[in-house]
Amino acid sequence: MTSTADTLRYQSGFGNEHATEAVPGALPQGRNSPQRAPFDLYPELISGTAFTAPRHENRRTWMYRRQPSVVAGRYQPYAQPLWTTGGDRETALAPEPMRWHPIPFEPGAETDFVDGMRTLAANGDADAQCGVGSLVYLATKSMDRRAFVNADGELLVVPQQGRLVITTELGVLDVKPGEIAVLPRGLAFKVAVPDGPSRGYVCENYGAQFRLPELGPIGSNGLANARDFLAPVAAYEDSNAPYELVKKFGGRFWRAPAKGTPFNVVAWHGNLTPVKYDTVNFMTIGSISFDHPDPSIFTVLTSPSDTPGTANCDFVIFPPRWLVMEDTFRPPWYHRNLMSEFMGLVYGEYDAKPGGFKPGGASLHNAMVPHGPDEEAFEKASTVDLKPQKLDNTLAFMFESRYRFIPTAFALNTAPLDTGYADCWAGLKDQFSKP
Ligand code: FE2
Repeated sequence: MTSTADTLRYQSGFGNEHATEAVPGALPQGRNSPQRAPFDLYPELISGTAFTAPRHENRRTWMYRRQPSVVAGRYQPYAQPLWTTGGDRETALAPEPMRWHPIPFEPGAETDFVDGMRTLAANGDADAQCGVGSLVYLATKSMDRRAFVNADGELLVVPQQGRLVITTELGVLDVKPGEIAVLPRGLAFKVAVPDGPSRGYVCENYGAQFRLPELGPIGSNGLANARDFLAPVAAYEDSNAPYELVKKFGGRFWRAPAKGTPFNVVAWHGNLTPVKYDTVNFMTIGSISFDHPDPSIFTVLTSPSDTPGTANCDFVIFPPRWLVMEDTFRPPWYHRNLMSEFMGLVYGEYDAKPGGFKPGGASLHNAMVPHGPDEEAFEKASTVDLKPQKLDNTLAFMFESRYRFIPTAFALNTAPLDTGYADCWAGLKDQFSKP
């Protein structure tokens, strides 16, 4: 890279047009593809939407690079059997709540961000461009001269342990737990793990790309603000030693040798960019009278489906916040929903499950599967003196989808499934006291 100080600068905004050059004068002015680009760089376009998508949804970026990305060797099959794609409808799945203890690092396993990816549950179909996968990564080593391209979906990365340094074709993102990153479909990247063993969650989104939700009566401020999303500035690797390219394409993995680095973009402009976002900048909104609103009030990003208001996937966070409601039960009440909920915990405690839900673990409440506060949370919330209370040092999140999540064989047979999960409600007795 040109220099650390330069490469870790950011540009603010989500879906905005950005223009950046690592070498002054490298970005053509007024033309996307001049007959000869400055410094004899190759222009190359990446389109994240169909050409004719509505203007407000249209995303594309022009890159000016030392070699076009078509320069690569032949692809050979590559084995990554634990990163599966879409839901396996043959799986017999009881309509029960499910929970996993923290997914452990595998003893002795040396895995990078790609090899250490494990699909826990998924739905939809990448070729049909609908649905999402919910994954965890267990990365113990950096991708040094290895780059990855996902043709099947964009990746929303939620680090839980360890910082990630994500080098992309468009520049470098430094992402720590509490922050998230969104990596566009088709953009090459590699991940370094400077803090050692690193774990986190990923939403692989096969559907419409994530965007900020509409705010309706909230108005023009609140929830996640566009200016807090940070795109990298242009940066390129000077060295030209060989690379291995790994590509996910149609649910299968492929590898090809490359003579040089894919991170050779000297300048770019466009609105299809990787971004990172720090959840401390999320402006929570909640009740200041009684009851609590639906969790949609915590939506950071949404991937819409073709039915208005019924998301392919919402990314929802439960960050530190004040609870001030009077004469009410503050945690989420017992419920069963049309939408399916995959939850993870980055740090701290989740207020509806103070004991059993641990950072690095996961829970799954599929469509119309009842769930809610465990016995301990119910007792406390029913009797507590309702003073203003700060929920602090906590960050839970949800990938919420209109499609049922189907756990993978890894999730059912290898990952630490909490087989006693449903017992957390067993002590809720019939306490009806007939007058
Ligand atoms: Fe729920």
